[in-house]
Amino acid sequence: MRLEIKGLTKKFGSFTANDGIDLVIEPGEIHCLLGENGAGKSTLMNMLYGLLTPTSGEILLDGKPVSFGGPGDALAAGIGMVHQHFMLVPVFTVAENVMLGHEQTYGGGVLNRRAARKQVRELSDRYGLKVDPDAYVEDIPVGVQQRVEILKALASHAQVLILDEPTAVLTPQEIDELMGIMRELKAQGTSIIFITHKLREVKAIGDKISVIRRGKVVGTAEPSASEAELAEMMVGRSVSLVVSKDHAEVGAPVLKAEGITVIDPRGHVVVKDVSFEARGGEILGIAGVQGNGQTELIKSLLGLIKPDAGRIELAGRDISKHGPRQSLEEGIGYVPEDRSHDGYVGSFSVRENLVLDLYRSDEFSRGPALRLDAISANAKARIEEFDIRTENAETPVAALSGGNQQKVVVAREFSRPLKVLIASQPTRGVDVGSIEFIHKRIVAERDRGTAVIIVSTELEEIYALADRIAVMYDGRIVATVPPDIPRADLGLLMAGATPGGSTDGSEVAS
Ligand SMILES: Nc1ncnc2c1ncn2[C@@H]1O[C@H](COP(=O)(O)OP(=O)(O)OP(=O)(O)O)[C@@H](O)[C@H]1O
Ligand SMILES: [Mg+2]
Repeated sequence: MRLEIKGLTKKFGSFTANDGIDLVIEPGEIHCLLGENGAGKSTLMNMLYGLLTPTSGEILLDGKPVSFGGPGDALAAGIGMVHQHFMLVPVFTVAENVMLGHEQTYGGGVLNRRAARKQVRELSDRYGLKVDPDAYVEDIPVGVQQRVEILKALASHAQVLILDEPTAVLTPQEIDELMGIMRELKAQGTSIIFITHKLREVKAIGDKISVIRRGKVVGTAEPSASEAELAEMMVGRSVSLVVSKDHAEVGAPVLKAEGITVIDPRGHVVVKDVSFEARGGEILGIAGVQGNGQTELIKSLLGLIKPDAGRIELAGRDISKHGPRQSLEEGIGYVPEDRSHDGYVGSFSVRENLVLDLYRSDEFSRGPALRLDAISANAKARIEEFDIRTENAETPVAALSGGNQQKVVVAREFSRPLKVLIASQPTRGVDVGSIEFIHKRIVAERDRGTAVIIVSTELEEIYALADRIAVMYDGRIVATVPPDIPRADLGLLMAGATPGGSTDGSEVAS
């Protein structure tokens, strides 16, 4: 199916998010969309999927103009979309989720489970999407959940599949698998619109590349273009893709964790007797495949969950019993991996979110009264400094693009005096220009003497920032290694093996 977009425009009030977009997606092509945070990519996709109504312009399928009242219409016309935030029902099985909304599998109001399972199996065989139809969605990893979303779109016979930042939440292994699936879909004639901020992926899989800036298509590129060329097209200036940093001036230990053990609500030991020190002036990178205890370890450091055993010290004082507010007030900065859950309040304005948890400080309050002038001045300065693309400071954070929401969280946490900075996936969903900026700020924080802990599933980010790398696997720190460890060895450690062949990692521990 050939998808043609002609002069598509979307206005939100006086703001033009899409401004006369022209684009053609040929059958069986993987068309990559690149663009800065807030450029208008998701807005465009939401119009194609019937979630937003265009202000003006046309969408044509095989030459015929179409208009969608909702996603049901788009699906019926052959356009499917996988959102970054999945919309699956956790307590349903894979088959139940895939069939949800397809009436033909119901008889007398009851889901025909056998037919559902059969169809899921057929689809997964045909497209090489390995899933167990009987598994409960809450039990399967994110990458597999995403496969279920893709199956759901394919079950509706989607001929154009929209993937809006599908790789942002995936592990490197899962990304490889997704690319395999995309190639298979393409071979069978499905067109794919692929949005990502990772230029490497665009080059690996794209047939065509279109670049959007401030709501307009500003150019097209071939996958043979260099990452630097693509980055420049996106942001309109040259971007340094590697952060430069001096040798770390490592100081005393600031945060000490001793014997941290966390048992999750289902009784699994997810963090197993973890001990480490974060030292001032040093970036400790915690590398690992998602789901190896990093999330729970970090949450226990912050007091967001109570560890079942262990002790946490900040500058020599026991803070094991502290809650999150106390930890933040003691000078621990925190960028959570899931910004929408722990990072901001969507219905609050950008201005308010920039002082969330800080409004009681002397800077922003005097006695019981808030210093509104200081809060406004802070918002203005942060918006400018971090290049947060928002209509104004009063805009609710929920209305910002994904990457700009992330910048709000980062701007708040990086702009107060810190002893320790803990950042999980600090650049998730952020464009190349802003990655450069955020990485520079992280290095500057280190050089100021702060103990920095970066948790990342991305090797690129770990290599770009870490002065020392702790590898987590199966709830433990299996090795602590210098940052010049070869990629293959780091990959092995993350997979639970060790370069030397033994399993406890002791010979590479420092
Ligand atoms: N419902 C809305 N109301 C007001 N403004 C909106 C709304 N949805 C999006 N916008 C604005 O439209 C612009 C484009 O947002 P969009 O989400 O399309 O960006 P994007 O290119 O997907 O960015 P990112 O890479 O960060 O995901 C942003 O400035 C955003 O604030
Ligand atoms: Mg987006």
